[in-house]
Amino acid sequence: MPRITFIAPDGKSYVVDAVNGSTLMENAIRNRVPGIEAECGGACACATCHVYVDESWTGVVGEPEAMEEDMLDFGYQVRPNSRLSCQIRIRDELDGLVVRVPERQA
Ligand code: FES
Repeated sequence: MPRITFIAPDGKSYVVDAVNGSTLMENAIRNRVPGIEAECGGACACATCHVYVDESWTGVVGEPEAMEEDMLDFGYQVRPNSRLSCQIRIRDELDGLVVRVPERQA
């Protein structure tokens, strides 16, 4: 089980044992990570599951696809390392991943 760390805006860390094949968003919700709202339930249609991928991990996580890129336009304070957590599929290579939760969602 890849271990993922979510860092809340207040600096508090939430370490989660994520399930391969599920999404980063689903693991955040399941573990009650604050600040991940996921209003659309993972359909890439709300941008309220926005996270910042730690810069040292952006290469491993990869780039957003076109649909996610379009939806990110609606995110709050989007940065080059912004991703929608419902579009990141958990796999072994993501063990140790660190993401930050924005101060608020869209
Ligand atoms: S949960 Fe709605 S875009 Fe990710």
